[in-house]
Amino acid sequence: MRPSIAAFLTAVGMACTATADVAHPSIEEIRAAAATTRPLSPVSNVKGLAFDRFLQVWLENIDYSAAAGDNNQKWLASQGITLTNFWAVTHPSEPNYCASAGGDTFGMDNDDFIRIPANVSTIADLFDTKKISWGEYQEHLPYPGYQGFNYSNQETYANDYVRKHNPLILFDSVTEDKHRLRQIKNFTEFYNDLHNKRLPQYAFVTPNMTNDGHDTNITFAAEWERKWMSSLLNNTYFMKDTLVLLTFDETHTYPKPNRIFSILLGGAVPEHLKGTEDDTFYTHYSTIASLSANWGLPSLGRWDCGANIFQLVAEKTGYVNYDVDTTNLYLNETTPGPLSTNYYSEYTPEWPIPATSEKCSAGHGILKQVQNTYGHLEPTYNYTSPFPYDTKSGYNVDVTATRKTN
Ligand SMILES: *[C@@H]1O[C@H](CO)[C@@H](O)[C@H](O)[C@H]1NC(C)=O
Ligand SMILES: *[C@@H]1O[C@H](CO)[C@@H](O)[C@H](O)[C@H]1NC(C)=O
Ligand SMILES: *[C@@H]1O[C@H](CO)[C@@H](O)[C@H](O)[C@H]1NC(C)=O
Ligand SMILES: *[C@@H]1O[C@H](CO)[C@@H](O)[C@H](O)[C@H]1NC(C)=O
Ligand SMILES: *[C@@H]1O[C@H](CO)[C@@H](O)[C@H](O)[C@H]1NC(C)=O
Ligand SMILES: *[C@@H]1O[C@H](CO)[C@@H](O)[C@H](O)[C@H]1NC(C)=O
Ligand SMILES: *[C@@H]1O[C@H](CO)[C@@H](O)[C@H](O)[C@H]1NC(C)=O
Ligand SMILES: *[C@@H]1O[C@H](CO)[C@@H](O)[C@H](O)[C@H]1NC(C)=O
Repeated sequence: MRPSIAAFLTAVGMACTATADVAHPSIEEIRAAAATTRPLSPVSNVKGLAFDRFLQVWLENIDYSAAAGDNNQKWLASQGITLTNFWAVTHPSEPNYCASAGGDTFGMDNDDFIRIPANVSTIADLFDTKKISWGEYQEHLPYPGYQGFNYSNQETYANDYVRKHNPLILFDSVTEDKHRLRQIKNFTEFYNDLHNKRLPQYAFVTPNMTNDGHDTNITFAAEWERKWMSSLLNNTYFMKDTLVLLTFDETHTYPKPNRIFSILLGGAVPEHLKGTEDDTFYTHYSTIASLSANWGLPSLGRWDCGANIFQLVAEKTGYVNYDVDTTNLYLNETTPGPLSTNYYSEYTPEWPIPATSEKCSAGHGILKQVQNTYGHLEPTYNYTSPFPYDTKSGYNVDVTATRKTN
């Protein structure tokens, strides 16, 4: 290896051997770490405008029509609000999960072992500004904060837990903090936290590769989801002022527009809205913007900045969402960035610079540490747009947005 490459890898904290170990630990190493790593379940009770707790559950790779036609999805929809115009942001899986935590895909067009530098902020930093407890529940994660590429079924070696479906683990700002790591737990800990009334105010829930439909289909995944939700819908501790988003990472058919069947349900959904539809344009970035609007949190200054806010929350803040003409919108590809592998080989990987002086749709400006890190630089994109676009590569430049009139 040329010394310059080794020096570069070390400089960015990715010495080859260290990465290999973290990505592919032996079963002995996993067992040893599991024996000493305890989960952490901080609790908080910060009042929100529309909900006091938020959980999102993602299934995998299902086209809108297939999900909408499934009987168990229909039943779940009858318990809440169907979001008929909710979009994933690209393909394949991992960049969508990344987007839900970091407000961007950073050009990722793959499911690789990715590490995002510590100077890129996430929703964890937003929550920490108000000490809002957060966590992730990843089915069959072998121990809290496990960073391996996968943890397969140890009898069949079938896909079970995969890192690419774990949003916060992709970020060095999370993995370099051992407290944060311990808030990334498995389903056993979900039921412990539920039982002990120690659920966090924000949680991301990832069923394993069987239950989320990845290695099965919508019939299987929706049946799993209905069962999983049903007992929670009867749990008064869980339901109280809780909003649950049931959605998908992306569609199955890449050339189709990336619109995904999504449902809001839980105790925070007013009775009169149950069984209704909301056709407002949303993306995975809208979820971050909605959390910021609900709890009075700043923005990451990335694509969450201009994203539409769930109507349920927007009504409380008076924010007027955009109507987006989706005729030319696909959101099935990523605009080039530092994590692209399919784009121009000569592409210079520069980490996109977030906005630092916008008010953003949630109305609370941009996270202080983002301002401190990037305030002297020009933002790479127009992050006040409700959908991502890039004039340089011509990405989504034919899509238009206008403020809603009613
Ligand atoms: C953020 O970190 C990356 C990787 O270490 C570095 O290349 C980049 O220059 C940093 N950005 C700023 C604005 O400091
Ligand atoms: C879940 O994580 C706990 C530690 O928090 C570990 O003891 C347990 O074996 C894991 N369970 C499963 C089913 O992976
Ligand atoms: C990860 O997946 C590979 C390929 O299926 C498998 O050989 C390996 O045992 C898995 N690792 C763990 C820790 O489950
Ligand atoms: C996924 O989890 C379920 C339990 O929820 C389990 O029955 C199934 O075997 C798991 N899948 C794999 C491949 O281990
Ligand atoms: C899903 O798979 C099961 C069997 O594995 C099958 O019975 C069912 O019809 C499939 N559903 C769809 C929508 O293809
Ligand atoms: C939840 O409660 C309803 C009626 O209140 C009942 O029909 C249903 O079986 C319960 N579900 C579970 C999973 O306990
Ligand atoms: C995105 O959709 C367009 C229109 O159907 C298609 O031409 C393009 O190939 C798709 N991109 C990918 C990566 O599939
Ligand atoms: C940025 O996007 C917003 C919202 O779509 C638009 O109103 C504004 O004109 C755009 N700014 C620039 C400089 O293109």
